[in-house]
Amino acid sequence: MSPLLGQRILLGISAGIAAYKSAHLARLLKKAGAEVRVVMTDGAQAFITPLTLQALTGEAVRTSLLDPEAEAGMGHIELARWADTLLVAPATADLMARLAHGHADDLLTTLNLASDARRVMAPAMNQAMWRHPATQRNAERLASDGWQLLGPAAGDQACGDVGPGRMLEPEEIVTALTVGESAGQGGDASANASGPAAGLTITLTAGPTREPLDPVRYLTNHSSGKMGYALAASAARLGARVRLISGPVSLATPPGVERIDVETAEQMHAAALRLAVDSDAFIGCAAVADYRAAAPAEHKLKKRDDAESLTLELVKNPDIIAAVAALPAAQRPLVVGFAAETQDLEHYAQDKLTRKGLDMIVANDVSLAGQGFGADHNAALLLWRRPDATTPGRHQTATLTKTELADTILHHLLERLSARQASDPHTQDTP
Ligand code: CTP
Repeated sequence: MSPLLGQRILLGISAGIAAYKSAHLARLLKKAGAEVRVVMTDGAQAFITPLTLQALTGEAVRTSLLDPEAEAGMGHIELARWADTLLVAPATADLMARLAHGHADDLLTTLNLASDARRVMAPAMNQAMWRHPATQRNAERLASDGWQLLGPAAGDQACGDVGPGRMLEPEEIVTALTVGESAGQGGDASANASGPAAGLTITLTAGPTREPLDPVRYLTNHSSGKMGYALAASAARLGARVRLISGPVSLATPPGVERIDVETAEQMHAAALRLAVDSDAFIGCAAVADYRAAAPAEHKLKKRDDAESLTLELVKNPDIIAAVAALPAAQRPLVVGFAAETQDLEHYAQDKLTRKGLDMIVANDVSLAGQGFGADHNAALLLWRRPDATTPGRHQTATLTKTELADTILHHLLERLSARQASDPHTQDTP
């Protein structure tokens, strides 16, 4: 039986090109057994007509707050109370801003204020608009207000750009709603109070960084982000509040995860330090570029006919995980790093554990076929510091899928956290 059977879903559609996908979304929701009513903003009607949605849902579509005829039927407060879930797809940058600031200047924003339904949105916009600090601020505020943000995904955009901002596919949105529903989740994963990580906040970095050389070129690496995203998904399933600081990847945001998109190591460093201080654990899974261009060119570098070589001056990037590990004790989360090595795995991993001041490190040999960057399977060696011992704790995993490995790493992380809590005098009962 579908967990959406009998669920009352109020589908809000705002003015994005992805609105054409909302018709398919409405159909899928109906097919899953949900009752669906639709509210469209003025702008949304330029992309898709209310009549289409009315035909698909069998219900009159609401478009205006000040519509005496519609209000005489089901008034807006009644509609707000009717909904189990308020699902906004697509959510444009403008709508996100209005919702984040508590506006009530049209029907959809008014319903948001008047309803205590579960709130889920699928943002969709141009990649630069999504990356803009104002939109990122609004996304963070909405997540802390209890909105579950699904996506956006990265990829080709209608405007010709490539990057994050695509609305998740309707099938992915329905799956995410189903997962949240069957796990008994509310607006975000942290509401899943029954998981072993309930009440914990875990911040992660994932994917590559991109260091500009000029407006059209950059330095990067082959990191796919799969391991970091698997860890974020696993942590959310276990009930943690999860914040994923992501370099550019083409992966959908796992359900219940707050995603903060960055490009450069310096941006990742700033986001990590901002979020680490109120986290219980920090996992550095990103493949951070160790160097960036000393001075990225303002204009496209031109090929020179009179020179056979080009020398780039690079400067060191900050070591993000070492900076988090060096935070003062009161602000410092448990810190878990990764080491991808091609030789002397244990030796280099142990050196990184000590040199960067980490609590635990996950090491894997990327020279073995089918492991590491882009692969779906991985075997890892876990090493952790033991306060009373000279050698670290050690666990070698079998070859696992990235999801299984993520679950194993989180299991060890939770053990380390409870060991830390047990030895922390501030968390012990006074005699
Ligand atoms: N890391 C980081 N910031 C950096 C470089 C690495 O946070 N500027 C983190 C990675 O996310 C990972 C760990 O440090 O958790 C180890 O990354 P790795 O690239 O292996 O470390 P490096 O210090 O760059 O060592 P190497 O000389 O092997 O490249």
